[in-house]
This record gives sequence, structure tokens and C-alpha cells, in this order.
Amino acid sequence: MTKPLEGIKIIDFTHVQAGPACTQLLAWFGADVIKVERPGAGDVTRSQLRHVEGADALYFTMLNSNKRSLTLDTKTQEGKDVLTKLIKESDVMVENFGPGALDRMGFSWDNIQKINPGMILASVKGFSDGHHYEDLKVYENVAQCAGGAASTTGFWDGPPTVSAAALGDSNTGMHLAIGILTALHHKNKTGKGQKVAVSMQDSVLNLCRVKLRDQQRLDAIGYLEEYPQYPHGSFSDVVPRGGNAGGGGQPGWVLKCKGWETDPNAYIYFTIQGHAWAPICKALGKEEWIEDAAYNTPRARQDKIFDIFKTIEDWLADKTKFEAVDILRKFDIPCSPVLSMKEIAEDKSLRESGTVVEVDHPQIGKYLTVGSPIKFSNYKPEIVASPLLGQHTNEVLAGLGYSQEDITKLHDLKAV
Ligand code: COA
Repeated sequence: MTKPLEGIKIIDFTHVQAGPACTQLLAWFGADVIKVERPGAGDVTRSQLRHVEGADALYFTMLNSNKRSLTLDTKTQEGKDVLTKLIKESDVMVENFGPGALDRMGFSWDNIQKINPGMILASVKGFSDGHHYEDLKVYENVAQCAGGAASTTGFWDGPPTVSAAALGDSNTGMHLAIGILTALHHKNKTGKGQKVAVSMQDSVLNLCRVKLRDQQRLDAIGYLEEYPQYPHGSFSDVVPRGGNAGGGGQPGWVLKCKGWETDPNAYIYFTIQGHAWAPICKALGKEEWIEDAAYNTPRARQDKIFDIFKTIEDWLADKTKFEAVDILRKFDIPCSPVLSMKEIAEDKSLRESGTVVEVDHPQIGKYLTVGSPIKFSNYKPEIVASPLLGQHTNEVLAGLGYSQEDITKLHDLKAV
């Protein structure tokens, strides 16, 4: 099987999650990703939340598979020389340091272009260049607050809430990967490199598009008919938190199933989509609602939506979430069990599709990771363990033309 990105060389100057998630994806697709890390320390996630003393933490192993690791102190002259050689030979450099760090290191975008005019520099920052917060360092939840996700997530009587999904980190990395592939395509046509910049705030906002839609609807008419606040509650002049309401105009809610009293995830998500109304009534044994004018349009149902959900919960009371979905799927009703991480880890279909993968690591043994969510008809990524710190230093240096003697000298100088 030919690897789609075979032959693309990427300097992975990233850490924590946003940058590593991007470069890991490109490594799965066949790029040679060389992770550049500080000697002795490496990416901070190697030691964060360890479950095996002294070993690389899952936080690192799950974001850095299929890469090579080169240790390099880029604050020494010798380290800068190695990085310069690497830039000359590479197609892409990805970084997500704090604002200005790359410039302070001596590798401004201007300098990188002088070293290699075909280079693509891909950068993640918390905020975009020129933004009034451009100097801020940013982590996941900061981005979720800045991008509009937190103010619109959670329940109306609780505080702004962040999502467990890495909207600020991994999501930004996925945006960056799209930017890099676009720039590579452009370079194939023109021979020219360019800088690709993605901010975490922008990437979160890109996923909160429907909430900006709602703000404009609210400005225009003063209410949002698909929110639980309508018609009995009240609206202010900002988009409220809508609990578990569906964002796309399909009323839905998380509903209790058998066992909810003791199992925190004994729930299903149930959507009352317009076209599914008749099948829903049939499944619930409420055929009389199908033609009843008080129920047969989304607008007519909205003021009784929680009574309808209560009726569905009564129907669910003697069914597990899996039994309920097995019945509802026969009626073509959009729904899903609320799956715990334990259930996901054990899910046969996810294992078979390569979405959940077991990897063998020399320090921590077997562990699970999330494999490629993107499936190709002509390529199946093989997920291999993340590199140990500096595992490929000598190999990469030799590939750059350093002799064994030079390599020993670089080690003695602690530049690598
Ligand atoms: N050799 C020598 N020095 C190195 C090095 C290496 N191989 N790799 C990094 N460094 C140095 C940098 O030069 C910089 O030094 P300086 O500040 O003296 O110029 C420093 O290490 C890294 O700084 P920074 O990236 O700011 O790290 P931090 O731990 O203070 O901040 C973040 C971490 C994530 C908050 C920050 O990097 C950030 O805001 N990044 C952009 C947004 C982002 O990606 N957030 C994280 C999402 S998971």
C-alpha cells in the first residue's frame, strides 16, 4: 500500500495537544514527521498524568504515534545549525509555541523563507495575528471560552460550561492539517511555500457557527423557537445556554432509560425530527398524535415538548438504552445510546474499523488510542507506538550528513 503522504518531510516543533494532533494525523498518512524536543525534558506531556512511573504518559503516546523523535537544544548555536539544515531539507514546519517564541529563537518567518523559500510554516496560536489578545498563551478551555462555546454550553441556570471534546486543541490541529495540505497542493503547482496560521479561538468559533446564526435571529425577532426557553421562559439579548436541545432545529433531549438511578449513562439521545413524527408516534403507541393538530407540526409541539419527552421517558422506563435504540432504529428514528468511555473502549465495531486501536509501547505495554477517523478506500493507516525521547536523534543527524564524530560532539555539547 502506498502511503499517501510518503516523501513529505515535516519538522514537528509542537507540544501539548493542538500541534501534536495535527502532525500525528499527517504521520498516519505517511509523512516523515520528526518531532523536535528539548534534550532531557521533551514534550511536557511525556510526564503529565503518568500511570507508569518514569514512562511516557498516555497523554503523549496518544498524540505522537508514528513520529520520530530528535532531541535538539535550539537555544545553542549548534542546535540552531542542525535546525537550519533540517529546514533546508523539509517541506513543512509545524509549531505551537507561545507568541513570539520562534522569533526569539531566531527562526522568524522571514528567516525561514531565506533558508528554504519552498517551506510551509504552520503555526497554532491562541488568537490570530493582530487580535487584541494576540500576546496571550492559551490552553484548551481558554479557547473554548474565547470562541463562544462555553457561553452557549450547559444549562440556563448554571455557569458557562466547557466541553469534554477538545474543541480548542485537537480541533485546531485538524484545521491546521487542512491548511497544510492546501498549502502543499499550492506548492505542487507553484513551487512556493507559505505560512499557514490557525488560531484556537477561530477554530472553536468555526464549530459554533450555528450559535452566531442564533445571535442574529435573536437580534431580529427576540426569541429562538427551538430553545427550551421558548415559549414559557424568557430571552435576554444574548444566545442562552440550551441544555441538551438540538442545535439544528430538530428538538431533541437526553432521556432516561432503565437503570438511570444507578448508572450515570443509562440515557439515550432522542431527536424529534419533523419527518420522523409519525414513526415516533407509532413506536410509542401514540398513533392519535399523528394527525392531531395540537401535535402534528414542530411548531404545535414546541410548547409541550417536555411533556412529549416525559411520555417517551415513561415508555423507556423498562428498556435499557441499547434495547430502546434497537426498537427505535426499526422505525428509522434518529437516536443513540449515551456511551461511556468504558463502552467505547470495548465496542467491537470501533475496534474493527480501526477507530479504536491497541498499540504496543516499550515502556507501558499495550494501550488503546483513537486511530484515524478518516477512512480511505486505498489506504489503511497502521498506528505504531510514539517514539521515546531522542530515539531517532542519531539516525536523523546521520541523514542530515553529520559524521559519527560530529554526532558525538553534539551530544558532548548537550546540543542534542
Ligand atoms: N530547545 C530550546 N528551547 C526550546 C525548545 C528546544 N527544543 N523547544 C521550545 N523551547 C523554548 C522556546 O524557545 C520558548 O522559550 P522562550 O519563551 O524563552 O522564548 C519556550 O521553550 C516555550 O515557550 P512556550 O511555548 O511559550 O511554552 P509554555 O509552556 O510557557 O506555554 C503554551 C505553553 C501551550 C501555553 C504556549 O506554547 C501557547 O500558548 N501555545 C500556542 C497555543 C497552543 O498551542 N496552546 C496549547 C494547545 S494544546
